[in-house]
Amino acid sequence: MIEVRNARKSYGETVVVDDVSITVPAGGVISLIGANGAGKSTLLSIISRLLPAPAGTVMVEGMDVTTTPGDVLARRLSILRQDNQMTARLTVRDLIAFGRYPHSKGRPTVEDRGHVERVIRYLELEAVAHRFLDELSGGQRQRAFIAMVLCQDTRYILLDEPLNNLDVKHAVAMMKLFRRTADAFGKTIILVLHDINFASCYSDRIVAMRDGRIAFEGPPEEIITPAVIREVYGVEAAIQEIDGKRVALYFR
Ligand SMILES: Nc1ncnc2c1ncn2[C@@H]1O[C@H](COP(=O)(O)OP(=O)(O)OP(=O)(O)O)[C@@H](O)[C@H]1O
Ligand SMILES: [Mg+2]
Repeated sequence: MIEVRNARKSYGETVVVDDVSITVPAGGVISLIGANGAGKSTLLSIISRLLPAPAGTVMVEGMDVTTTPGDVLARRLSILRQDNQMTARLTVRDLIAFGRYPHSKGRPTVEDRGHVERVIRYLELEAVAHRFLDELSGGQRQRAFIAMVLCQDTRYILLDEPLNNLDVKHAVAMMKLFRRTADAFGKTIILVLHDINFASCYSDRIVAMRDGRIAFEGPPEEIITPAVIREVYGVEAAIQEIDGKRVALYFR
């Protein structure tokens, strides 16, 4: 379980995460949605300790993230950042192997290498595994970074806009992989998504942020409604149910 209590972050006078409290139970796929600037990435950064929160507490399985040693936390929680920049000239396989670092401490075992090769297969990166990151397309690079995070094999996985740069086929495959990973291994996957229909079709719960606060939270059938979408994004959407899933059409 992740418990965030009264998290708050400001830049100068501007409060960007405003007294947020949220409990995420273990297991399942939770999507975080909201307009640009709503505070989604800032909240994920606070949870993963990339950003020290000036106020509030974050507990991951009862461990306070601000006092838990980094290597202990890194075996429980992993994060894909929205802007992945890597200055070092690394191959895809080397990048993915970095995900094992909290476990292997730089001395990879046969098991660590097995994890790397399995993730390469799952994400269909075999053909580019030997290439350097600057020799990849945008979508291939995004999949390599997601592979690194999955290779860390933590119970809690935070992914900030994992579908960036992915084509429709790879985006669907990725969401199915997240769903399977949550269902088969009991992982807790928190995703920031801009495509509310992906959020609707693959999440157990959706959390909608607005102006640094959690505006709505619930299962997709409660969140994918014209009223909530109007409140969160200021657009008019028509909702249809297809195969038992709610789908929003917002570009009429
Ligand atoms: N280093 C910073 N200095 C000043 N303001 C910042 C900084 N980082 C973020 N902000 C502001 O904090 C607010 C929340 O940013 P955040 O990145 O959390 O939004 P987001 O919901 O992830 O948006 P997006 O969908 O565009 O990624 C924005 O108004 C942003 O301009
Ligand atoms: Mg963001």
